[in-house]
Amino acid sequence: MQRTEQQFELAESFLAGGVSASIRLNRALGRPMYFDRAEGCRLWDLDGREYIDLCTSHGATLLGHGDARVRAAVEDVLARGAACSYENELHAELARLICETVPCCERVRFTGSGTEATLHCIRLARAFTGRPKLLKFEGNFHGYHDQVMFSLGTPADRLGPEDAPTPYPASAGLTPGIEEQLVLAPYNRTDLFEQIFHRHAGELAAVICEPVWYNAGCILPKPDFINALRELTRQHGVLLIFDEVLSSFRMGPGGAQEYLGIKPDLCTLGKAVGGGFPLSAFGGRREIMDRLMPRGDCQHSGTYNGHPVPVAAGLAAIGVYRQSGFYESIRRVGDRLKNGLNDLFARHALPGRVQGLGARFGIYFGVERAETYRDLLAHRRDLMLRFVAAAINEGVYFHDYSGAACHHGFCAAMTLDDADEALRRLEQAVIKMAE
Ligand SMILES: Cc1ncc(COP(=O)(O)O)c(C=O)c1O
Repeated sequence: MQRTEQQFELAESFLAGGVSASIRLNRALGRPMYFDRAEGCRLWDLDGREYIDLCTSHGATLLGHGDARVRAAVEDVLARGAACSYENELHAELARLICETVPCCERVRFTGSGTEATLHCIRLARAFTGRPKLLKFEGNFHGYHDQVMFSLGTPADRLGPEDAPTPYPASAGLTPGIEEQLVLAPYNRTDLFEQIFHRHAGELAAVICEPVWYNAGCILPKPDFINALRELTRQHGVLLIFDEVLSSFRMGPGGAQEYLGIKPDLCTLGKAVGGGFPLSAFGGRREIMDRLMPRGDCQHSGTYNGHPVPVAAGLAAIGVYRQSGFYESIRRVGDRLKNGLNDLFARHALPGRVQGLGARFGIYFGVERAETYRDLLAHRRDLMLRFVAAAINEGVYFHDYSGAACHHGFCAAMTLDDADEALRRLEQAVIKMAE
């Protein structure tokens, strides 16, 4: 038996379900992947097999694994004792860099995870507006706290009408009745958004969205849709929150808000913000952020907020994202992978299609048009799982996301040669899939 399989048996004796996070059980393999070593765009498992990484820590390691600049910053902090739970000079330095880089940020606060960032943003929106409800879009993902754990992977027969989608819980154990404070609307349907917004406008504290919907692969908001979000929220004193946990730094230093040219009132930043270390943040207009304690009356605190190790890593990483040429290289590699994969699917008569922006992309099987959540009902999860299993077998690592149309991506350490090598391995995978 290989070490990987032994490890799963051992882990199951002590870790609930054998994993530290529920999605790490890879449905294409029936076990988690176990990585022992990583460098740049490559990973090595416990049995020494090498993989080209097209998951990149779900987007956290945008610079690649073990980046020397991030490592030097972390080692410097460790050498000075890494005292946590206190303020130091790095916090304001990173906050300044973020305010200079991300358009809506006039003030910033640090959190550990993206889940915490959206939780605090939503609480702050309620405190600032004095209103109870949150409008969220079908299928948009905002982390694991109770308020936003609805309408994710909803079965087709439980979606409800398009003009009043049903808040289907994505977990057992959610606070009873919490869905009464949630209003759902379909993404990219401007007409329905306007109708639903007007029905609830006086009760809404915030509208939250993924400004580039990477959790459905890669779906861009239509211009009239994203403009309607900005205009209607502004007119009615509702706060617009861009959840940029995944989109921040992905296609440009200012994230989706810079790319789309729309300034939200508040935003969250995650994953790439910490250069592969656990850091997230939320920020926005000064008058809203000033409502946080100790100036205001809205609580946000935590032992590990702004831990010096991820803050130092984030400072080093954002410094690199701001260097000229960084995103040109991402675009070149992204185009090579996207075109190469589309070409591969076409040559081998597989109904696969890739949509991407910046360093992430989605793969859709059997979907003609991917714009709304309901468009994705046609996605062939069975083919996606077979593709992921075949790719892993040939040395290309995609996360499985239970076969859903979700996000994949690459890091800045990936060269065009690496991309070509990945495509050669994937060609073998696709050939074996057809056999
Ligand atoms: C848009 C978005 N928001 C929030 C989260 C939650 O972040 P975390 O996993 O760090 O809690 C994610 C994670 O994938 C995300 O993509």
